[in-house]
Amino acid sequence: MKALIRYLRQGPDGVIEAQDSDATVNELTIGSAADRQIQLIGREVGADHAAIRASGGKLAIACRGRFRVQINGKSVASGSLALGDQIDIAGHKLRLFKPPAGFDVAIEVTLTSADASEFENAFRTDLDKTWLSKRSGAWLLAILTLLLALALPLQSVFIHRQGKPTPIPSVDDALWSAGPLSPAHELAAGKKCSACHQQLFVHVQDTACRDCHRSVADHIAASTQALAHLGTQQRCAQCHREHDGGASQIAVRDDTLCVGCHADPGASFGSIPRKLGAVSGFARGTHPAFSIQLLKPPAGSEMAALQDWVQSREPLATARERSNLKFSHQQHLDGARVTRARDGGVLGCADCHTLENDGQHFLPVTMETSCASCHQLTFDPNEPTRQLPHGKPLDAIYVIEDYFARKYSDPTLPVKKSTQARRLPDKEIPTDLADVCTGPSYICANRRAAAEIENQFAGRGCVSCHEVQDSHAKDIQERFQVIPVHLTQDYFEKARFNHRAHAVQKNLTGDAACLSCHKAKDSKESSQVMIPDIGNCLQCHSNRYVKDQVTVQCVSCHSYHPMAIMQANSQEQ
Ligand code: HEC
Ligand code: HEC
Ligand code: HEC
Ligand code: HEC
Ligand code: HEC
Ligand code: HEC
Ligand code: HEC
Ligand code: HEC
Ligand code: HEC
Ligand code: HEC
Repeated sequence: MKALIRYLRQGPDGVIEAQDSDATVNELTIGSAADRQIQLIGREVGADHAAIRASGGKLAIACRGRFRVQINGKSVASGSLALGDQIDIAGHKLRLFKPPAGFDVAIEVTLTSADASEFENAFRTDLDKTWLSKRSGAWLLAILTLLLALALPLQSVFIHRQGKPTPIPSVDDALWSAGPLSPAHELAAGKKCSACHQQLFVHVQDTACRDCHRSVADHIAASTQALAHLGTQQRCAQCHREHDGGASQIAVRDDTLCVGCHADPGASFGSIPRKLGAVSGFARGTHPAFSIQLLKPPAGSEMAALQDWVQSREPLATARERSNLKFSHQQHLDGARVTRARDGGVLGCADCHTLENDGQHFLPVTMETSCASCHQLTFDPNEPTRQLPHGKPLDAIYVIEDYFARKYSDPTLPVKKSTQARRLPDKEIPTDLADVCTGPSYICANRRAAAEIENQFAGRGCVSCHEVQDSHAKDIQERFQVIPVHLTQDYFEKARFNHRAHAVQKNLTGDAACLSCHKAKDSKESSQVMIPDIGNCLQCHSNRYVKDQVTVQCVSCHSYHPMAIMQANSQEQ
């Protein structure tokens, strides 16, 4: 089981401070021995006093030997536990509270203020009883300490760093250790303290971390760093703790780390190119409304090629998107207008949107997987099984030209009369030019093909889904250009969002849950953005504990080290 243990302590200023630690164990052991998960000191506490276990979803406490505990004031040797139960062991108070997401059990420990005399009594020895005098003893100890804890390791450090073995094997840097390293670093650095402590008597420098972690990107882009008036930069070690055996999971996730800079950006880092709103938490009025990242053509050149498009940050409330794909969610979700080809059912979100494994993004919508079952690329009403290839405009043009060349030149092909005629905006295309064209067959074929190409790109084919640029060039093959489709995958560049954690919204599931965030039934054009703004999230979230809300931290949504750059850097190597 995964357990959260919260120690409550009264600080010198009288304020109660909470300190969390977590453990994944079969049972939570309690006692005075140092290796207990919950260590309690006191005369009445046994070395191995009791243990809390989970079985069948229920928690129970069982004492070892003759020991007893008090549950809600009743003295027992064992008993089952429920949320809110208070366990009393020699004055120390343990209380079960509702475990946050990810934990099976959470326990609050309030220690009795340890009675110092209790310890002293146990260990007191009197120097006078020995052959040492106080003064000479003190001198001896001081010299010994210096020798053992400073001189010996110091010389071994120098020998170590020259790559030679230390004369006394048991004396090495480990003497100075401040505690066990996190498992990842234990494995990577082991006893080589100098991997991080590069200079003696100097705090761990960022360069040491960077020697190994080359792909970690800076929170603040180098270009911004030059402009910002950042006072003391955060050192890596300020957020990444060490020597606690990995208990803090290396990264400190406290909001105060972030709020320190972001509560008043003007004062903390001055004016940087992108003006950032003040952020002091995640609640009404403490976090700015969201903005999103969109790719847009550069100002003044609407038809620029996709590779020239630029990133644009826009407030969600007023953002418009340019995907170059014509699509109306409202139309397609209306069962009276559109039904599934397969079974006649109304379209659901899952017909077009499939969640990716990351739980955040969806697989890109494609013509083949999401549209082709209803929208076929037929071009000759007389041959409804003939379809154009998709995605390659020039190939489609060749297919049309080849098709009509053969159709008009091959006398063995029967010419079928059509009953329905399509319309171009201003002129009628005869369905079969053979009816009206009296010239040589190749001329008739070319004219018919050109009319169909025009129809596809300017009438009712490809152009019904695509934005098409018409250069009015004489050569029909060069005249039209389908503007590439760009579907946004990541609207929040600087934040993450987990769809899997939101599959159920209060009492809504399935499409109804999706619709509580995405107003798809009101979206008539692909330019409408349906991503929810902060107001939606605040219904259920806050950075502080609020009843019936899920508490979130800055790092629940933001990663401190930018991901995209991190990946780009690691590819470079
Ligand atoms: C993965 C990097 C890493 C390795 C390897 C490492 N340490 Fe540290 N150590 C740290 C960090 C980070 C701190 C906290 C320093 C700070 O806040 O500036 C620290 C702090 C200490 C401190 C407390 C003094 C201080 O500067 O705050 C001692 C003592 C110490 N380490 C000893 C050792 C010894 C001995 C070894 C080798 C067995 C070792 N360390 C290996 C990262 C490391
Ligand atoms: C000797 C090389 C080395 C040094 C020096 C080093 N690290 Fe690491 N660190 C690793 C390795 C290897 C891992 C585990 C693999 C990984 O996550 O990249 C790791 C893991 C981490 C993680 C956890 C990653 C996770 O996914 O949980 C953090 C955070 C981290 N290091 C920060 C630091 C900081 C801060 C320093 C400087 C005080 C530092 N490291 C120094 C090699 C090193
Ligand atoms: C040393 C001060 C400092 C600290 C600490 C800090 N930030 Fe920042 N943050 C900045 C600066 C400066 C920028 C602008 C970066 C840029 O434009 O390159 C920024 C940018 C951001 C952005 C992107 C804003 C945008 O839209 O471009 C987010 C999100 C963010 N920080 C969140 C956090 C979180 C979460 C933490 C805590 C884990 C944190 N910050 C800690 C200074 C800081
Ligand atoms: C017939 C296929 C289809 C169905 C069914 C469908 N979508 Fe979409 N969806 C698309 C296409 C195509 C796009 C990209 C074009 C656009 O932005 O409109 C898209 C884009 C989106 C976007 C991101 C773009 C934006 O404007 O915010 C969201 C969110 C979305 N769909 C939600 C939904 C939800 C919720 C449902 C179910 C109620 C749904 N969709 C049903 C095809 C579909
Ligand atoms: C709690 C609100 C919420 C719910 C519920 C929700 N979404 Fe989203 N959705 C978001 C947010 C926020 C984003 C923007 C995330 C990003 O781009 O980083 C998003 C993005 C999207 C996108 C566009 C990004 C992409 O990867 O294509 C699609 C499509 C989408 N959602 C479909 C759905 C569907 C389908 C459902 C129901 C299964 C659903 N959403 C449920 C909030 C929600
Ligand atoms: C289940 C069948 C079905 C699927 C799947 C489907 N559509 Fe449609 N679509 C229709 C129907 C039927 C209409 C006509 C609706 C009407 O008349 O109101 C239509 C109309 C349209 C129109 C308007 C055409 C016009 O000429 O007015 C566009 C654009 C369109 N769909 C694009 C798409 C795209 C893009 C996809 C895939 C992402 C898609 N459709 C998936 C059935 C479907
Ligand atoms: C029912 C709507 C629909 C019709 C009709 C349609 N397309 Fe598309 N087209 C899409 C969608 C959706 C995409 C984006 C996803 C994909 O690549 O499938 C797309 C993508 C494209 C792309 C970009 C491919 C890429 O890899 O970037 C081209 C080029 C294209 N279509 C050409 C055509 C041509 C030429 C026709 C007519 C023969 C046509 N399309 C008809 C829906 C349509
Ligand atoms: C109807 C209530 C509801 C709304 C609205 C909602 N959430 Fe959540 N959210 C939850 C619940 C419940 C969880 C816990 C789910 C779990 O732990 O599996 C959660 C978990 C989270 C988490 C942490 C869990 C994780 O795995 O990443 C984040 C971050 C988050 N939500 C962000 C958002 C954002 C951003 C929005 C707005 C776009 C939002 N939520 C809107 C109910 C909601
Ligand atoms: C529930 C999710 C969530 C939480 C919690 C959250 N943010 Fe954000 N934050 C967002 C989203 C979404 C955006 C807008 C998307 C983007 O900028 O890419 C944003 C934008 C920002 C920005 C840019 C503001 C601007 O002016 O555009 C900063 C800075 C920021 N957040 C810092 C923080 C800090 C600091 C915290 C912790 C106190 C925090 N955020 C907590 C989701 C969250
Ligand atoms: C302001 C606090 C802060 C500072 C300063 C900081 N980090 Fe981190 N770092 C984090 C947080 C928070 C995470 C947890 C990852 C997440 O959720 O984004 C993290 C994650 C990591 C990881 C794990 C990889 C990952 O993305 O999960 C490594 C490695 C790392 N940091 C190295 C460093 C190094 C090296 C430095 C110094 C150059 C540094 N960090 C400075 C807050 C910080």
